[in-house]
Amino acid sequence: MTANELRRKYIDFFRERGHAEIRSAPLVPENDPTVLFTTAGMHPLVPFLLGARHPAGRRLVDVQKCVRTGDIDEVGDAVHLTFFEMLGNWSLGEYFKPEAIAWSFEFLTGAAWLNLPLDRLAVSVFAGDADAPFDQEAFDLWRGLGIAEARIARLPKKDNWWGPAGQTGPCGPDTEMFYWTGPLPAPAGFESSDRRWVEIWNDVFMQYNKQADGSFVPLAQKNVDTGMGVERVTAILQGKASCYETELFAGLFAAIREITGVAEPHTQRSGRIVAEHLRAATFLMGDGVRPGNVDQAYVLRRLIRRAIREARKMGVTDLFTARLATVVIDQYGSVYGDLLTHRAAIVQEIEAEERQFASTLERGIREFAKLVDSFPEQVEKKVIGGRKAFYLYETFGFPIELTIEMAAERGFSVDQAGFDEAYGKHQEASRAGAERKFKGGLADQSDNTASLHTATHLLHQALRQVLGDHVKQAGSNITAERLRFDFSHADRVLPEQLAEVERIVNAQIDRDLPVDCSELSYDEAAASGAIGLFAERYGERVKVYSIGDFSKEICGGPHAPHTGCLGRFKISKEESSSRGVRRIKAVLISGSAE
Ligand code: ALA
Repeated sequence: MTANELRRKYIDFFRERGHAEIRSAPLVPENDPTVLFTTAGMHPLVPFLLGARHPAGRRLVDVQKCVRTGDIDEVGDAVHLTFFEMLGNWSLGEYFKPEAIAWSFEFLTGAAWLNLPLDRLAVSVFAGDADAPFDQEAFDLWRGLGIAEARIARLPKKDNWWGPAGQTGPCGPDTEMFYWTGPLPAPAGFESSDRRWVEIWNDVFMQYNKQADGSFVPLAQKNVDTGMGVERVTAILQGKASCYETELFAGLFAAIREITGVAEPHTQRSGRIVAEHLRAATFLMGDGVRPGNVDQAYVLRRLIRRAIREARKMGVTDLFTARLATVVIDQYGSVYGDLLTHRAAIVQEIEAEERQFASTLERGIREFAKLVDSFPEQVEKKVIGGRKAFYLYETFGFPIELTIEMAAERGFSVDQAGFDEAYGKHQEASRAGAERKFKGGLADQSDNTASLHTATHLLHQALRQVLGDHVKQAGSNITAERLRFDFSHADRVLPEQLAEVERIVNAQIDRDLPVDCSELSYDEAAASGAIGLFAERYGERVKVYSIGDFSKEICGGPHAPHTGCLGRFKISKEESSSRGVRRIKAVLISGSAE
């Protein structure tokens, strides 16, 4: 079965069972600055898992593009990828364990679906601990479907629990499904340490909300969130040892073979890194990311530059990235249209980055070699100083990770603290932020961020009431801690006006208004009086968020489900942003009274 068939079957299966197909969200979260990338299918759905109504309904199915860079250094082995596609089906407060497990079983084993043999399947369920009990229900359901007891492992939180680890928020036990990739007969019992049992699907049962005091309170809305990796399952369905042997990478490796002259590039670490990183880079560029020095841009730069360096190890000196990007666009364009739309820009800009890097790389490598070769023999601790590393960065565009990697190849380490110091305070903060963010998984503070989004809509409307309809959003930036809102208004906002705005916003919070989302065409949205029609890359259909009768605004979300959970709204600063534009910073203080 090909990956295209797998995607199609998955979507069809769940559509037949009442699920609406939703499109993949972009790789860069639209309104969540607390994480760099969409790391799982659930990420763009967090507000809906918390209770906001999804315009497509309560049963959803999708194929979501994901980027996880936590394991970037492992790429090159048989399994690790930075970019992957995740199939998922969702119940937003509707069906729960019986349906989810029965459907997973049917999809995996049904003759019309994946038709996997039962004797190669095993599952795991949550074993229970002081916080939450053993998942007896999941266990019984699997037993009832014919999975032998020895093939149902009971595992602790570290294996069978999903949610913001150590943080507050929605979470719950999960049940994972495994496929035996070794020779038959498969062992009678499941052993999680045996790598030949490969995880193929995860059904998460979100039934708790973890509180700040560490307790687990049952959620009012119980959800199902599942995830199946396309690349991994495609390999398994084809009996391949690695996704690099499937058709998903065949086009890339054919091109790499021609470019390098290496007969079997998919078996080499360098060949895999080139293919994997440029596939990820092309998708990121398809979603509007461009190479740069902070955040997503920095990760993209790192992927491209690492791929170039690995290609050099394979003897490539000519430009090659644009050709590989074209292979990716041609292969995936019919599934992910953004790639086709941005074809010209992707090809042009990946090559521009390659030219820029290539021109300094040679000199940098020579410089690096000099540095290492001139190292006094008698010094045992081989450490490249932070200032030297910074010099390589500044002069030759070597990302620090590249220097560290090249140093390691020669048995050296790098004084990273010294590098950070030399890098300067401002930039250090940006890069450290990027590191932190791209290591992280889900937004730990998603609900804070969602609440601040909702507060921003209330603020926008309140400003219009107090100052007039000329007030329009000129910019917005939200972190988990505060909101920042820029708007058109010529004069300073007077203290009594600010107090009035605050009072209005808090009054709407006290009214505990529902936050609803509907999907309309752009024209319908405009006709409905929704504000926020700034020239952004809105698709043909837009989401309009209504907060009771108070506000109606076009926005991608995420939002709080109702205003009562926002806390107290407080303006912390009002200042000029640029000519004719004022800026307000505000916070939400938890609890209902000051
Ligand atoms: N959110 C779950 C995962 O990523 C399904 O595994």
